Amino acid sequence: MQRSPYLWGIAAALTLGCIAGLSAGAAENNVIRPGEPWPDNHGVHINAHGGGVLYHAGTYYWFGEHKTAGPSGNLANVGVGVYASTDLIHWRDEGIALPVSDDPGSDLTRGCILERPKVIFNAATGKFVMWFHLEPKGGGYRGARSGVAIADQPTGPFRFLASIRPNAGAWPRNAPPDQQRPLSPAESALVASLDLKGGPVPGFPVDLIFRRDFAGGQMARDMNLFVDDDGQAYQIYASEDNGTLQISRLSADYLRPAGDYARILPGGFNEAPALFKHGGKYWLITSGCTGWAPNPARLAVADSIWGPWTTLGNPWNGPGAQTATSYDSQSTFVLPIAGAPDAFIFMADRWRPDDAQDGRYVWVPVRFQLDGVPFLEWKQTWDPTAIHAPLPPINHSP
Ligand code: DGJ
Repeated sequence: MQRSPYLWGIAAALTLGCIAGLSAGAAENNVIRPGEPWPDNHGVHINAHGGGVLYHAGTYYWFGEHKTAGPSGNLANVGVGVYASTDLIHWRDEGIALPVSDDPGSDLTRGCILERPKVIFNAATGKFVMWFHLEPKGGGYRGARSGVAIADQPTGPFRFLASIRPNAGAWPRNAPPDQQRPLSPAESALVASLDLKGGPVPGFPVDLIFRRDFAGGQMARDMNLFVDDDGQAYQIYASEDNGTLQISRLSADYLRPAGDYARILPGGFNEAPALFKHGGKYWLITSGCTGWAPNPARLAVADSIWGPWTTLGNPWNGPGAQTATSYDSQSTFVLPIAGAPDAFIFMADRWRPDDAQDGRYVWVPVRFQLDGVPFLEWKQTWDPTAIHAPLPPINHSP
């Protein structure tokens, strides 16, 4: 009988657990404990914040921001960390996949801001491609750029290729013709007079910012990657001073924006986007824009990745006090489980801005209502090796 990758995963995990002598926390009982310290194979709390997971050749690779102690630990002092696992519980520290640069002239210089790294594999080129939110050192969040890096192996080393603002010189495919023009002097003056800080403000000029940024490229802060069934990859990012998300098709080699993008939920102030596909529909979980502080998560659905997108409210099911903060978490990724078409893990961060490296991870299984709408429920502990069997869809009342 052929063993499923799932069973191989368990066997490997048991071996790994014994070898590593895991002794505490999440790994101890072969369960995930959302919000608790999560020791790696050295017994050290996993350091991969704002992360995402790539499944490749039987192994899961968890990439994330390697933070350091204290508030300055939110700056990129080290780089992007990577961990490997076959069972999603026991993670082996594979080191720093993309280190920051010692070159003060590089946008990736130590002390920049590097957030929400995501990695995808390009089958045609055989390369691993990493995209991340990049803010050059000393500029706060004004840069709103995307970084791109490439590697031959999933654990790196990744080579930094570019720091860009996506889609310079291209109009969104869903912008009406009368909006496909640069700002007039009066419109420019209006936008310049506003104090835009990344959150909603009265009179926010919903349809002006992308026109302002036509020539130089669109702002891109919180971001994610998504590879569709046809191998086409997309970057989704909080753009337009966080007012509007944009989704942007990548070139065939995944290294550049293809210049084909759409505005999503204009004026909705969504960030932390996590996109997945199930039941023929595209599902998007986001948060509102409140800095490191948690807020109610949001769910949206579309039949086409280009929209139109319909908002469906907070996907968290539970007591109001907890769902109001999404159980003190903010989305970072939805992980499809290999070989289990109905199984997904929702991944979120519980930020600790005053001691960044102590940030925690909130991972829960995605469940589905009878009508196919996904929702999230808190779990004290749970076993991801059982998730290959789809959870029964149920009707829940939000
Ligand atoms: C919220 C974002 O989701 C995080 O990635 C980070 O950029 C913080 N804001 C910074 O305040």
